[in-house]
Amino acid sequence: MILKLNSNVIPSSEITSENNYFNRRHFLTALGVGISSGLLPKLSFAQSESLHYKPRVITSLEQETSYQDATHYNNFYEFGTDKTDPAQNAHTLITRPWTIDVEGAVKKHKTLAIDDLLNKFPLEERIYRHRCVEAWSMVIPWIGVSLKKVIDWCEPTGNAKYIEFVSLADPNTMPGVKLPLLHWPYTEGLRIDEASHPLALLALGMYGKVLPNQNGAPVRLVVPWKYGFKGIKSIVKIRFVEQQPQTTWNIANPNEYGFYSNVNPEVDHPRWSQSTERRIGDGLFAARRKTLMFNGYAEQVSHLYTGMNLKQYF
Ligand code: MTE
Repeated sequence: MILKLNSNVIPSSEITSENNYFNRRHFLTALGVGISSGLLPKLSFAQSESLHYKPRVITSLEQETSYQDATHYNNFYEFGTDKTDPAQNAHTLITRPWTIDVEGAVKKHKTLAIDDLLNKFPLEERIYRHRCVEAWSMVIPWIGVSLKKVIDWCEPTGNAKYIEFVSLADPNTMPGVKLPLLHWPYTEGLRIDEASHPLALLALGMYGKVLPNQNGAPVRLVVPWKYGFKGIKSIVKIRFVEQQPQTTWNIANPNEYGFYSNVNPEVDHPRWSQSTERRIGDGLFAARRKTLMFNGYAEQVSHLYTGMNLKQYF
């Protein structure tokens, strides 16, 4: 059988089992959102059709990473540096009430309450490859809102060339920020055209459930063609700026972690190859997988980087 592998956006209608559907109702209930028949259509998940990508045949789906692995093998240095630390320690994070401040080059500064994100913007489910700069990967069914729709709501001015995202840094609930592990608060950034790409999500959930704390509750960025560290967790601020913002890992080691950090099998990390990856859950003796350009999303995103030297702008 020939499998179509060239498109990575799968309409949720193709993959939604009844079981998942009920999970989603559970998701909405857990978020405190009513599921009366009047509300449900507004919170539709089946938005990906409007992105005009060819649907992928169901048999070509790479196997989803188990929920257990996706929630127990994490990077979230605010809760420790070991992969198992976030699952153990992130229960102290308080995710309600939670607001995101919108600042900088916008018509008017605004504050977005987390629950308004749900009511103002439609939720979508997206199954994306998640490729970490440490050369491991997962496949995760995220639930989130289109970052582009949120950007439009923020009403950036013509001066907004980049977006800076800022995480919470609360020493009372995040033990890691008391240590000089990284430059706190964790910050990340995207060029505004990258951020406006339809694949970019603000995720509020995964696997049909609310985002667990260790995965960046209540809201984190998902940019599937970039290394995982661009996916900033527990976002409290979005700032529209004219200059390229500083980013945490770039500050920590500018030779190793660039601003762009697009997944690229041809540009190695100074200390290891990026041409292959270990898929979490494959088992210790499984063959490594070939890493795909832009993590397999080249067809959708390569136009963003036309004419750029990707070795220089890594
Ligand atoms: N966001 C914050 N605030 N703090 C972090 O330490 N780690 C990043 C990114 N977002 C990190 C963060 C890194 S290095 C990766 S690989 C991904 O989150 C990991 O996401 P996951 O744990 O959901 O797989």
